[in-house]
Amino acid sequence: MEVAGQTTNPYRAKITAIGGYVPPDVLTNHDLEKIVETDDQWIVERTGIRVRHIVAKDMATSDMAVEAARVVLENRGLAPGELHAIIVCTVTPDMLFPATACLVQDRLGAQGAWGFDLIAACSGFVYGLTTAAHLVSSGPPKKVLVIGADTMSRIIDYTDRSTCILFGDGAGAFLVETAAEGEEGFLDFVNEVDGSGGQFLRMPAGGSRLPASHETVDAKQHFVHQEGQQVFKYAVRKMAEMATLLLRRNGLRGDDVKLLIPHQANRRIIEATAKALDMPLERVIINIDMYGNTTAATIPLATRDAVESGQLVKGDLVLFAAVGAGYTAGASLWRWQC
Ligand code: UT7
Repeated sequence: MEVAGQTTNPYRAKITAIGGYVPPDVLTNHDLEKIVETDDQWIVERTGIRVRHIVAKDMATSDMAVEAARVVLENRGLAPGELHAIIVCTVTPDMLFPATACLVQDRLGAQGAWGFDLIAACSGFVYGLTTAAHLVSSGPPKKVLVIGADTMSRIIDYTDRSTCILFGDGAGAFLVETAAEGEEGFLDFVNEVDGSGGQFLRMPAGGSRLPASHETVDAKQHFVHQEGQQVFKYAVRKMAEMATLLLRRNGLRGDDVKLLIPHQANRRIIEATAKALDMPLERVIINIDMYGNTTAATIPLATRDAVESGQLVKGDLVLFAAVGAGYTAGASLWRWQC
């Protein structure tokens, strides 16, 4: 199936390698039953989550990002010095500055690369991919590493049952580079921000509005605060809306896409999106049961699972879609090339 999009751009982007890292330690629903008033059945029924992975005390986001990046470089047979740019999508940087991209560049030894952090919460990786595709399409051949990495366990209040059951830690990465002449890759995208929803999912303190103080710590303002139902309703509506818009303007239906790889926030959101697109669940990657919501890392980790299970192969049309804090939302369409 031919797809419209950037067919005339001589510098079209494609994804050439992927990688991921998930810490070995797990926190199960039964572990959480001992910490807060919850139960396995409620968590599975309302979210689909069974297990999340939690980093060791001495690890931070850049460590997981470097692990994922090394897998990508190895899979592509690339030396770190061949990278042109590194984009780290995260809401849990090691610190506010230097950017986690700088820490990753140094640890990898990616001499000559530039980079930056991209804050778009759960839509971060989708925004990062789109940004990388446009960097690549702007000129002579380039190799851009896009990493989605989050250490959510560091900003979660493990006495708040409405949030602590949801999140896990992890990192995933894609290499985006220039496609050969006539080769398809990045096809189209839609991204959107609706800042009026910012109040419903946020970490209130730690920035210039509410710098860290005894008061902000006592008030637990350095943790994730979420009004779950508000975010849920927005996510169900937006994820379907963005994906449908993208397909429609490319003359496609759900049937034409091999795989939908959505952000993993809640199994019910994913199922509603699949239904709206008229896509059977066999063509939707769902791994939230194993990892929970790893924020910017869900899409690359789900993609890794799709490739490893043989569900995603070279030549397939794949649709990524995400909704997150901000509100942020986005979707992009790619011809898979690795
Ligand atoms: O990735 C970024 C975007 N984030 C999302 O997309 C998350 C979107 N939101 C959600 O996934 C869901 O809203 C949650 C999973 C967070 C919550 O599910 P819900 O079905 O919306 O539950 P609720 O907040 O409406 O709460 C229903 C009941 C409440 O009890 P009452 O007031 O009915 O007695 C809660 O107190 O469930 C209770 N509850 C729990 N019970 C057992 C809330 N959390 C828990 C829990 N265990 N962990």
